[in-house]
Amino acid sequence: MGALTAWQALVDVGQLRAGQTILIHGGSGGVGSFAVQIAKARGARVIATASTANQDLLKQLYVDVAIDYTKTRFEDVAKDVDAVLDPVGKETLARSYGVVKKGGIVMSLVARPDPVELQKHGIRSASISVHPDTADLTEIAQLVDAGKIKPVVTEVLPLNDAVKAQQQAATHHTRGKVVLRIADEPKG
Ligand SMILES: NC(=O)c1ccc[n+]([C@@H]2O[C@H](COP(=O)([O-])OP(=O)(O)OC[C@H]3O[C@@H](n4cnc5c(N)ncnc54)[C@H](OP(=O)(O)O)[C@@H]3O)[C@@H](O)[C@H]2O)c1
Repeated sequence: MGALTAWQALVDVGQLRAGQTILIHGGSGGVGSFAVQIAKARGARVIATASTANQDLLKQLYVDVAIDYTKTRFEDVAKDVDAVLDPVGKETLARSYGVVKKGGIVMSLVARPDPVELQKHGIRSASISVHPDTADLTEIAQLVDAGKIKPVVTEVLPLNDAVKAQQQAATHHTRGKVVLRIADEPKG
């Protein structure tokens, strides 16, 4: 779901190309950690935000510019980007319009971008709604097999701990993904 959401935003909707610059908010999260890797695999320059605790992960994912949003205002660093991926919303989305170049795009996972701001800055928007797509999943699987995308797994829990996993997901501060183990893999 995380990879598919990132793919449908960056590739299907945003049509991100080599040489373009994208600002990815929450680059350490379930969607963001895939989005960073997909953008890099497509040859884009990636600016990504996360809190202090996740700066090391952004570096491991080879982002070009890592921003600690608890210390630095992203708009002081990111300017004239081609695209923004926003999985956070609210103030983060409100402050994002001004960093996009004319003709660029703001893609939100959680809110409907403000038409007045879009017109003021001469930019486009998309509200992303992930949907099942075999062709997209096949392309993602090929990148995983080629080692170009590595799922970031923060914790593996037994199915009995599904409630704990859900509580972690609800914090909106998960590093990559939490995996629920349903059964042991067959031996041999
Ligand atoms: N529209 C769709 O089709 C669709 C699909 C999938 C998900 N979603 C939604 O998209 C959102 C993100 O999903 P997810 O699975 O990626 O969530 P997640 O795994 O909880 O990740 C959220 C990320 O946002 C970061 N973050 C939190 N506050 C931030 C801020 N103020 N500025 C920048 N980064 C911030 C966190 O990093 P730190 O811990 O370092 O703060 C974390 O890495 C959720 O609300 C989810 O429901 C929508």
